[in-house]
Amino acid sequence: MERSISGGGSGRRGRETAHELARYEALFAARTRGMKSSAMREMMALTERPDVISLAGGLPDTSTFAPELYAKLMSQVAAESTARALQYGPTEGMAVAADCIVEVMAAEGTSIDPANVIVTTGGQQVIDLVCKALIDPGDVIVAEAPTYPGAVPTFGAYQADVVQIEMDSDGMPIDELEIVLDRLQGEGRRPKFIYTIPNFQNPGGVTMSLGRRRRLVEVARERELLVLEDNPYGLLRYEGEALPTLYSLDASLGAGNGSPPAGDGASSDLVIYLGTFSKILSPGLRLGWAVAPHAVLEKLNLGKQGADLCSSPMTQLFVSAYFAERAAAGGPAWVEYVERLRDLYRRRRDVMLESLAEHFSGRASWTRPEGGLFIWATLDGVDTTDLMGRSKGVAFVPGRSAYMDGDRGSSSMRLNFAGVPEGDIREGIRRISAIVGPDTGLLTGTMTGSGPAAQPAAAGPDAEKDAELAEVLELPRREVSDPAHPSTRRSQDR
Ligand SMILES: Cc1ncc(COP(=O)(O)O)c(C=O)c1O
Repeated sequence: MERSISGGGSGRRGRETAHELARYEALFAARTRGMKSSAMREMMALTERPDVISLAGGLPDTSTFAPELYAKLMSQVAAESTARALQYGPTEGMAVAADCIVEVMAAEGTSIDPANVIVTTGGQQVIDLVCKALIDPGDVIVAEAPTYPGAVPTFGAYQADVVQIEMDSDGMPIDELEIVLDRLQGEGRRPKFIYTIPNFQNPGGVTMSLGRRRRLVEVARERELLVLEDNPYGLLRYEGEALPTLYSLDASLGAGNGSPPAGDGASSDLVIYLGTFSKILSPGLRLGWAVAPHAVLEKLNLGKQGADLCSSPMTQLFVSAYFAERAAAGGPAWVEYVERLRDLYRRRRDVMLESLAEHFSGRASWTRPEGGLFIWATLDGVDTTDLMGRSKGVAFVPGRSAYMDGDRGSSSMRLNFAGVPEGDIREGIRRISAIVGPDTGLLTGTMTGSGPAAQPAAAGPDAEKDAELAEVLELPRREVSDPAHPSTRRSQDR
């Protein structure tokens, strides 16, 4: 029997796969119907080819980690902690790993109690465990639009009904959220949680403003709703002031209500915080964490027991050894490494912004992230899934994979500027521009057969004006305020 049952493909292989799927059809759980194939698969096949420049993955640049330090830490763990490294560990994680997590959270300006931490196998597992603990088929999750493409299949697998709220340049508009919550309440439906990536959103690249953060935790408190705050990129800020986490904002509100004071391990009642070592150290470690209210933590722990018993003690000990390292200047080595990553990624972000301006002025718009790994670009009249299908030497993530319906976002794409050198960024953007060609409308619907035929790019006096506009953020600040919530606009703008 063929090993791959992932579907797709063409010719004999495709027919065999279809036949295999039919054989197993009656055995598959209903939830597998929610596990939609996405454009990501096409993309993964492409990125494996050496001639392809990948702007697609969510990859940090692990080549920047010193090989000698890696070898030293691995030998240290092997020599000094052989039995512990090779043994099962506690499901909630090892105390030495929780200590490192407390340190990272402090660098995020968030004081936590290590008793509220569960160490997970990557941040991705937090999303899975939260859904496992909270979502029955048909339950509502409210998320941003676009949302993290890696969360889309998880939400689908748990058969969640995901309501996505379109973002602007300040992230999720909370007045819009309140309208959605009112509507759901009218239908007798209470969302199980609100999912947000407040910093340098993946894939949108935008950051939720302080006013909206405050308002979001107020709304969560008023309506007793859980929030899943997904924050892999908070420490990768290249400009501007760091903003407080939703977790810390909620904890300080709780402190006013008789809980322990904020800044001293105060706990949030309603925010489940997701963190990860993937972007500040290495995704190969597969280590992330959740900080959550006790009752939720217990369910996450039970879910994790069923998933993998525990995260790797080997990599937890590696992280612990790494966090004990000092840099030449005397400070913690991990902090110095993150500073170096910031300098590197800031330059790469600027190179990508320059390349976009060079090749797409007047016919596309894109976000200008203050941090993180991604730019979200929208090309008028182009179907980016089709574009990906035609793409020979460059890969990106088509916008559709950031929407549950697989329909919206068709003319957008996510571009990673952090994982490849500057020369590749320039060449990658040039290649995308070459595939699009001068008439941006021509590719619409060629692979998916959908979408209206678009107009060619603007020419004449307006084109110059458009060229200037293209360098401005693609997601405009919303001016509309909801008459039913006159105070909302003001409080969001604080
Ligand atoms: C928003 C977001 N959440 C979660 C993850 C999962 O990361 P990991 O499982 O590597 O910790 C990622 C990875 O790209 C991400 O971008």
